Amino acid sequence: MHTQKPRILCVDDELANLKLLEASLVPRGYEVIKAVNGREALEKINEQRMDIVLLDVMMPEMNGYEVCRKIKDDERHRNVPVVMITALRSKEDRIKGIEAGAEDFISKPFDQAEVLARIKMLLKIKNLNDRLNQAYSKIATITSFGRKLISGFDPLNFDFMFHIDHVVSRLIRHADEAIGRPEMIMVRFSVEGRGQCYLYESSLEGLSRKTVEFDIGECLPEQFTSKILFHNEADLANSELRHFIERLDSLNKQVSNAVSYLSNDFCIAAFNYGREVNEYDASVMESLVAQSLFLKSISSQVKETDDAFAYTVHALARASEANDEDTGNHIIRVGEYCALVAGQLGMSEKFTSIIRLQAQMHDVGKIHTPAEILRKPGKLTPEEWKEMKKHTLYGAKILGDHVRLTMAKTIALSHHERWDGGGYPYGLRGEQIPIEGRIMNIADQYDALRNSRVYKPAFDHDTTCRIITEGDERTMPHHFDPGVLKVFKDIHRSFEEVYEKYKG
Ligand code: C2E
Ligand code: SIN
Ligand code: SIN
Ligand code: FE
Repeated sequence: MHTQKPRILCVDDELANLKLLEASLVPRGYEVIKAVNGREALEKINEQRMDIVLLDVMMPEMNGYEVCRKIKDDERHRNVPVVMITALRSKEDRIKGIEAGAEDFISKPFDQAEVLARIKMLLKIKNLNDRLNQAYSKIATITSFGRKLISGFDPLNFDFMFHIDHVVSRLIRHADEAIGRPEMIMVRFSVEGRGQCYLYESSLEGLSRKTVEFDIGECLPEQFTSKILFHNEADLANSELRHFIERLDSLNKQVSNAVSYLSNDFCIAAFNYGREVNEYDASVMESLVAQSLFLKSISSQVKETDDAFAYTVHALARASEANDEDTGNHIIRVGEYCALVAGQLGMSEKFTSIIRLQAQMHDVGKIHTPAEILRKPGKLTPEEWKEMKKHTLYGAKILGDHVRLTMAKTIALSHHERWDGGGYPYGLRGEQIPIEGRIMNIADQYDALRNSRVYKPAFDHDTTCRIITEGDERTMPHHFDPGVLKVFKDIHRSFEEVYEKYKG
């Protein structure tokens, strides 16, 4: 697996021994680094990666056991195998070596063939160990990344492009990093039904994303089943990725290896890891892709359900207007006024978006109000008025107890209550009235005043404001929540804008 020669650190206070080791190791393709005492050995191992250490036990100043212990105590070098070279054969010495963390022992004077055989075996073990550690660290990375993604996952506001940017920035090599991670990443997926291809590269200025004209779809056989692939230099030219490589070649980008996930609706390929790629790299890719596609699918299902819900709410609100004079966009406008007031009051984004939608249903109860009452041009008799007021209770009954319709129900029930306790159906006062009802009350009145009703003419914005802020024979300013009234006074121009935008 090593593209470089295995590097062996030989430590011995006798130069002759070092020469002997060098003479037998170098011709067999090993790089030999020599150190004549413990201090020098520790310096050398801190300077560069060693694949194995051959360590003499009997040395002045710091003996081999101490050197070994120092190596093994250091997180960075713990996995480097240490072989003790000892003239001593006693059991105690071996035990001391084992306690210091040594992997193996060779007796002096050593047999060349034996030394070579041990080195070969230890390197093989180290290599497997390195791969295992690499795999573990990748699993840990993916797990922590996945946990982070899921905890911050908001399906209604999920933006796949933004998400992919994030995934790529985790996967790609950063400009100031050593080799090991890919140098560039190509991604393709559909944006509004059109296949788009992007090339990511990272530099000292940060991660860049460029749109590349390239129809990957044409390079994939029809009905392509998704595949995770990895290719090193030797088999790259004949791989499924050859079209990518040609495309990158035309952009003056050379490719030496790649890991990719290819499917009809999503492709990602990472290039130039600066080392051989293997099945671990492929599984990292697979996990990230699986997470991304999973989140994408959840998000689109949630969005679809949410759209269907909003559609149904709107349709129900419309249906309830059947007996009323044509009220046009009244239900849309009141939702917008409510959202304006909620935003100004500092309510959460969630509250604001729920009230925008659910305020539309404030009058669903009118579906049970006799048309003769609703369409009566004149003033209502006391009996008619008694019946009229029930639209609040009917509304609450229609909306029922579903959690997703809680606010709609609250609004239907409380949008005619008054701050001073003079409203209906319950005569609640002050903060007994839910805030959404207090918000809806002013939104409803503003809009009813702006429009003509069978029983009243339409008023312009200024007249409407005057009625709300100064009162008329029906309304007095103290009927409103003072906080909500203050907001209305501050942002009444925005009410007018909404009215103008959605009138008719
Ligand atoms: P709506 O017509 O949509 O009116 C909603 C609310 O706007 C009214 O709630 C009232 O608070 C306010 N509003 C409407 N017109 C005026 C106005 O000229 N001056 C002032 N200050 N406020 C106004 P309210 O009064 O509880 O009425 C609820 C519903 O009862 C009305 O909805 C309408 O459908 C019906 N209604 C009320 N008064 C009459 C009426 O005299 N004749 C008929 N046919 N229906 C009426
Ligand atoms: C409508 O007439 O449909 C709306 C009634 C209201 O403003 O309360
Ligand atoms: C009414 O006087 O008809 C009721 C007025 C109101 O609720 O604003
Ligand atoms: Fe109403």
